[in-house]
Amino acid sequence: MLIRLVALAALFGMLFGFDEGVIAGALPLITKTFDISATGEGFMTAAVPLGAVAGAILAAMYADSLGRRKVLMMCSLVFAFGAVAAGSATSEEILVGARLMLGLAIGASALAAPMFLAELAPAKYRGAVVSAFQLMITVGILTSYLVDMVLEPHGAWRWMLALGAVPALVCFTGIIFSPESPRWLTMKGARDKAIEVVSLIQPDLSREQATHVVAEIEQAKAAGGAEPGWTAFLSDNVRPLVIFTIAAFVLQQVSGINAVIYYAPIIMKDAGFDGSSSQLAATVGIGVVNVLMTVVAMFVVDRFGRRPLLILGFIGTALSLVVISFAMQPDKPELAPLALTALFAYIAFFAVSLGPLPWLYMSELFPLALRSRGMAMASVANWSFNFIVVFAFPVVLAHFGAVVTFAIFGIFCTIGAIFSWFYAPETKGVSLEEIEMQHSPAAAT
Ligand code: GLC
Repeated sequence: MLIRLVALAALFGMLFGFDEGVIAGALPLITKTFDISATGEGFMTAAVPLGAVAGAILAAMYADSLGRRKVLMMCSLVFAFGAVAAGSATSEEILVGARLMLGLAIGASALAAPMFLAELAPAKYRGAVVSAFQLMITVGILTSYLVDMVLEPHGAWRWMLALGAVPALVCFTGIIFSPESPRWLTMKGARDKAIEVVSLIQPDLSREQATHVVAEIEQAKAAGGAEPGWTAFLSDNVRPLVIFTIAAFVLQQVSGINAVIYYAPIIMKDAGFDGSSSQLAATVGIGVVNVLMTVVAMFVVDRFGRRPLLILGFIGTALSLVVISFAMQPDKPELAPLALTALFAYIAFFAVSLGPLPWLYMSELFPLALRSRGMAMASVANWSFNFIVVFAFPVVLAHFGAVVTFAIFGIFCTIGAIFSWFYAPETKGVSLEEIEMQHSPAAAT
């Protein structure tokens, strides 16, 4: 049962990555079907993160009242519907609308799926289960690049977009047969049902042990006292965490990662790669490096610690960006291999560090009673800046050229390195309870 549930939540991660990445190969074809300006291109692409801002807010509002399962069920239907609508769009406006819907589903499931997972997973697997979600985002991006590469010679952008409906329907079927999270059931007073679910997920537990697990959830809730209000986020202990987590996500986005993820083939063209097949092959290369280095991150993060890894990542991405901005000269195709190598280095430094780390910090730093609202705030920061970068990128690129655009990202990464040097906390080897003791809003009073 646990494996089935992890596979299901991983599929949600994959959908997230797929719908983010698929536009990379589809956009150059879409601009041939519809006559689209640079601003239109920005809107078409950025509609996904814009919808996701709303999705994250809605999920945070309804995950408690409706339950995690119902929210995810609705997400998978919206995913399927949005994919079909995008694939069959007859105008630029319909396409933007469909991408907004897909964004809504991504933003909502990116909050509800990890929450559902963290609550279902037995404590000893929690870290691995939550990072599996991140890894699957990168696998989804790679899958979409491969689909783009196969379908591009046929000009089939509609199929590229519509294919996202298949995993969405698998998710829908899977979630229908999944139980609700035991923590949510306990919260709603459905004690017997919660015990049943715990026994289903951990079949090695006796009935008494399962009852004990649920009693612990009840006790933890009772000990937490009344839900702290929003002002708890302003207490001296919690405020720095909120600021740090939000800043980490903002810096992750302004590093320019999604300019590369969403527009990779166009960047390859500017770097001097002729022909869509070589541009897409290079894009698949980016997807592969992203997946592999995320796996490396999962192994090294507990050995090196979060802080040094974050600083190293920002320094590495900043240096790679300096080389990229120098090598991006379409009239000097001899520099194209250098640009590609630097892009690979950039993705590698990102994926091993500033890609997964803000997500990890977010799930570790907030005290339990504030976690879901803290996660919602961090997600909103993440998606808002994702939107700004992805929307502005084609416009800035068209006006100022590649050198300036990538130099701007480089400056932000340098700021990121300085910021993490001064402010990044180290949580390696510290238990969640110890972190919570230091930062609980109650400790401040
Ligand atoms: C991180 C970012 C996301 C980006 C992804 C790329 O998860 O939050 O915006 O697309 O990394 O791998």
